[in-house]
Amino acid sequence: MNTVLSGIRSTGNLHLGNYFGALKNFVKMQHENNCFFFIADYHSLTTHPTPADLHNNVKQVIVEYLACGIDPEIATIYVQSDVIEVAELYLLLNMNAYIGELERCTSFKEIIRKQPDNVNAGLLTYPTLMAADILIHKANKVPVGKDQGQHLEMTRTFANRFNRLYNNEYFPEPVAYNFGEELTKIPGLDGSGKMGKSEGNAVYLIDSPEIIRKKVMKAVTDSGPTEPNQSKPDSIANLFSIMKAVSKPDTYKFFDDKYNDCNIRYGDLKKQVAEDIIAFNTPIREKILAITDDSTYLKKVVSMGKEKAKASASKTIKEVREIIGFKSF
Ligand code: TYM
Repeated sequence: MNTVLSGIRSTGNLHLGNYFGALKNFVKMQHENNCFFFIADYHSLTTHPTPADLHNNVKQVIVEYLACGIDPEIATIYVQSDVIEVAELYLLLNMNAYIGELERCTSFKEIIRKQPDNVNAGLLTYPTLMAADILIHKANKVPVGKDQGQHLEMTRTFANRFNRLYNNEYFPEPVAYNFGEELTKIPGLDGSGKMGKSEGNAVYLIDSPEIIRKKVMKAVTDSGPTEPNQSKPDSIANLFSIMKAVSKPDTYKFFDDKYNDCNIRYGDLKKQVAEDIIAFNTPIREKILAITDDSTYLKKVVSMGKEKAKASASKTIKEVREIIGFKSF
């Protein structure tokens, strides 16, 4: 049986990128595997949320996980900061993570460009904390979007290095997992790259139909293709990628053919994308609204998850301590 782990930073509501990058695959795997899905609230501290925001964001993400179909009776849903063993493994892994490799990490280089006034050590060691999340359960499959590929690579490096250093094949080599397909990247509505919370280009699972229509109709397009089968510029390809995720294959083909014949009307394309996102989001949104205020249920989910995650994590930490050579007197 595989041990599967995935997680999302608690920095705001979940968007279509989170769903198609990580959640969808996780939900598909939860019945056949030993599955852990967590809320990365330690990771969210790199951007200094207020205490009230920190708590509300964690709660919101749990609600949205559940609404997307993670079953807490089967999979383990837990909050990262509830499992203190993660922090210990992070410390231990940091001892053989090198500054040079952490500085070369693409996401570190990007974030220091974005927030030059807050280049904290947590940002630099973000990949070791992520490795600790994965290795604490000795997970071997990790459903993530394309943007996390390099972090997974670093996790393998840290795991292998630990195994070599202590001459013990203890940690497995975790791989990003998308059912044999290429990892997904859902682009933003602005066509400038990936859909993201901090990019301001996202459609959230909680967005109402009115908001979705407004966001999609505002997306910038161009004056249309002039030659048959012309390749699509980013500001058009993004709408097609989102359509591929949320619409029926026939609908996608219909608009793709229209584009290739130079007959496309972008207004129609956008209307269709908006309506298909609404159809996709509606059942999730209804569930979000139904469980948001059910604090008894949420409390039960979180405490059940904490217990299961701690049992798995404390076993790993005990073994890791022994391997490293910590002994009691
Ligand atoms: P985060 O919170 O940025 O994103 C959570 C998950 O959503 C995926 N994702 C996307 N996939 C496709 N297209 C997009 N536009 C898109 N945007 C986000 C991400 O790939 C990710 O799978 N470092 C992680 C959180 C984390 C984690 C872990 C994940 C911490 N520890 C251990 C897996 C295992 C992050 O910031 O993801």
